[in-house]
Amino acid sequence: MTVISTQDLVRRFGDVVAVNGLTFDVERGEVFGFLGHNGAGKTTTVRLLNGVLSPTSGTMRLFDLDPVEDGPALRRRVGVLTESPSLDERLTARENLKIYAELYDVPAADVSARVDELLGQFDLSERADSRAGEFSKGMKQRLALARALIHRPELLFLDEPTSGLDPMIAHQVHELIAGYAAEGRTVFMCTHNLYEAQRLCDRVAVLEHGHLLAQGTPHELASRYARSQRLEIEATPATLPLALKTLNKMSGIEDVEAQNHSVISCSGATQETIPDIVALLVAGGVRIVRVTPLEASLEDVYFALHEHAAKGAQS
Ligand SMILES: Nc1ncnc2c1ncn2[C@@H]1O[C@H](COP(=O)(O)OP(=O)(O)O)[C@@H](O)[C@H]1O
Ligand SMILES: [Mg+2]
Repeated sequence: MTVISTQDLVRRFGDVVAVNGLTFDVERGEVFGFLGHNGAGKTTTVRLLNGVLSPTSGTMRLFDLDPVEDGPALRRRVGVLTESPSLDERLTARENLKIYAELYDVPAADVSARVDELLGQFDLSERADSRAGEFSKGMKQRLALARALIHRPELLFLDEPTSGLDPMIAHQVHELIAGYAAEGRTVFMCTHNLYEAQRLCDRVAVLEHGHLLAQGTPHELASRYARSQRLEIEATPATLPLALKTLNKMSGIEDVEAQNHSVISCSGATQETIPDIVALLVAGGVRIVRVTPLEASLEDVYFALHEHAAKGAQS
């Protein structure tokens, strides 16, 4: 089932075209990553999909409803963690959640149990009755995420959910998102953190200046767009120095690094050149134990896509 569907979505602010002809679908149960630099149009897209902004042109549907017209019907099914969520700092964590529970029509009889459950899940039980204003940044973000989930939404929007968090807290937030997605719910997540996208997303779309450069699974994008592969080569320890020397002299091969006493990694290889690399090493006296091509990371893909787009713009 398609949960989000857009067709040629455009949003201008005066002369700025923030969103410039977006067409994409998000299926139920997917974690969909919306990747792009600052200013690419991610937040504008989230605000359009949430009915906060109207499109200049194009169409969009959430659960086959119109985000602008059908706001009240959608509110119950959708949760949002905005880019800079504002908590009521004078209220306690528990009170912040209770207010949202009422706002999102959680049945009065269920509110206490739901609030306690979320406080537990998000590791906030001990500070449930402290004011949010006293919380660290990580605690505030966890509370904001708990708040977005208060009504068990089927679809969750996350706008840069870990931006500005330290790595330990970011990791915790990743676990919480993964747990939520594992319940078969749909997540639309904006990020410029490629590691986060690689870790959490089933499918990603790469956005630049309001345009989609590409969309697909990380695997699809890696095989379509990454120019070269990283290669891992295992040799006998005695011939490893020889392998290093030979690889360093090969044209097109870069970032040659010994991982340990018997494994080297390098970049710049392609499917076509791997046999030649192996032949040269063997001819040079290297005794090879194993050659493993490593899939390009989303980071490789991201940079290849932007480079490609920049070249296209020049020509
Ligand atoms: N309310 C607004 N008024 C004018 N320009 C805006 C507004 N919101 C966003 N923009 C512009 O739209 C572009 C996309 O912004 P945004 O969607 O916030 O990008 P991202 O979230 O990817 O960083 C930027 O050039 C930004 O300055
Ligand atoms: Mg943004």
